[in-house]
Amino acid sequence: MTESPTRVLVSAGEIQARIRELGAAIDKDYPNGVLLVAILKGACFFLADLARAITRPVRIDFIGISSYGKSKTSSGEVKLTKDLDTTIDGLDVLIVEDIVDSGVTLSYLVHVLEQRRPRSLRIVALLDKTDRRVCPVDVAYVGFHIPDEFVVGYGLDYAEQYRNLADICVLEGAPGQ
Ligand code: PRP
Repeated sequence: MTESPTRVLVSAGEIQARIRELGAAIDKDYPNGVLLVAILKGACFFLADLARAITRPVRIDFIGISSYGKSKTSSGEVKLTKDLDTTIDGLDVLIVEDIVDSGVTLSYLVHVLEQRRPRSLRIVALLDKTDRRVCPVDVAYVGFHIPDEFVVGYGLDYAEQYRNLADICVLEGAPGQ
């Protein structure tokens, strides 16, 4: 079967409404502002909208992580492919992620960034597939809890396709996850 996005799981309107709520919660929790750290590449779309939903001072930075065997085993191999441009010592840092699946990526990143002594370090994730968790991760802000289906759109890809879909859609026929 050829894979194709067949069903809207979260519509563009629902995404934007939820991001406004997340922005309001972050405004309340970070009155002095926050450094948003987005994980490449999928989180870029979420970062762009979330940053504009926050009214407090915001700075942004990017980090690249590649994982092998992620979502399959608890010992997924993870490495940094692009580091932050800025130091985070003493800063309030919020990691911005599009989806938490096994948790391998975020548990690795939290470990790496904690060693750099930020004032605080928390996570905002648009999507959370809690059923797939292998590594425990404390996600402070969750956009939507979703079932264990292969999703694309709004930054999420299949073989680098579909990131530009406005909705988050279920991809039927994708071989494995
Ligand atoms: C996806 C997603 C998360 C990670 C989540 O990234 O953006 O970073 O997988 O999976 P995990 O919880 O099982 O670690 P991916 O490696 O597909 O890269 P991309 O963002 O460039 O598409």
